[in-house]
Amino acid sequence: MRLILLGPPGAGKGSQAQVLSERLGLTHIASGDLLRHAVRAKSPLGLQAEQYMSRGELVPDRLVTQMVLEHLAGPRGAGVVLDGFPRTQAQAVELDHALDRARAPIDLVLYLRTSHEMIVRRLAGRWICRSCDANYHTTNLPPKRAGICDRCGGPLEQREDDRPDTIRQRLRVYETQTAPLLTYYRDRGVLHEVNGDLSVEALFRELGQLFRHKRLLPEAAG
Ligand code: AP5
Repeated sequence: MRLILLGPPGAGKGSQAQVLSERLGLTHIASGDLLRHAVRAKSPLGLQAEQYMSRGELVPDRLVTQMVLEHLAGPRGAGVVLDGFPRTQAQAVELDHALDRARAPIDLVLYLRTSHEMIVRRLAGRWICRSCDANYHTTNLPPKRAGICDRCGGPLEQREDDRPDTIRQRLRVYETQTAPLLTYYRDRGVLHEVNGDLSVEALFRELGQLFRHKRLLPEAAG
């Protein structure tokens, strides 16, 4: 199964992708996580990406596309869930070309429609693990021990770009550059809208039914 999660910052793409990966064995490819690793490692890609990310702008297409397609070429387990990529029409076209060559088209693009109020509340309370990228929320999903990742024991931190002015810029960028992809995928007949305001668990249950209905999962799975 090959999925894309599409939606504004804070829609819950990363949280849902994490659950889909753990429970359905999908490989989770998150362009934002890959870029943050590159920034921390101070690699040539990271040094270029950092200036865009800290301003809440998109990293240039050629840098991100190459990075994601390299990961997509690796082992995929039961399938793949793309989180945060593609984010522009140019990225979507390049992805289509790569998947056509691999004869492995996208099965479903899930649009997590999410209210503005919910986005602000989620981003303000988000904490992520510096070591393994697991994500938490002050009230919705607190770690067992404050400041420590349940999964790997790594330190939790808030994201540089979760400041109010940078969040506003990321939302503007989403509306102008990424939201047009909804039409791109609707025209290809693969777009499916879901309620991003639901809890992670409730949305996962809904997705399980959708996947079975579309015969992307065996009847007993999920
Ligand atoms: P990226 O890391 O992809 O950020 P984003 O798209 O802005 O998305 P977020 O990670 O903020 O939100 P999310 O939808 O994953 O929500 P999450 O699950 O974390 O990108 C960062 C930057 O990298 C970009 O600005 C850009 O510069 C660059 N970049 C990345 N990809 C690029 C690309 N393709 N092209 C160019 N540049 C690129 O949830 C948020 C919080 O809410 C968490 O605390 C979580 O616990 C909580 N939460 C989530 N869902 C729920 C729920 N259902 N119920 C209750 N709480 C929830």
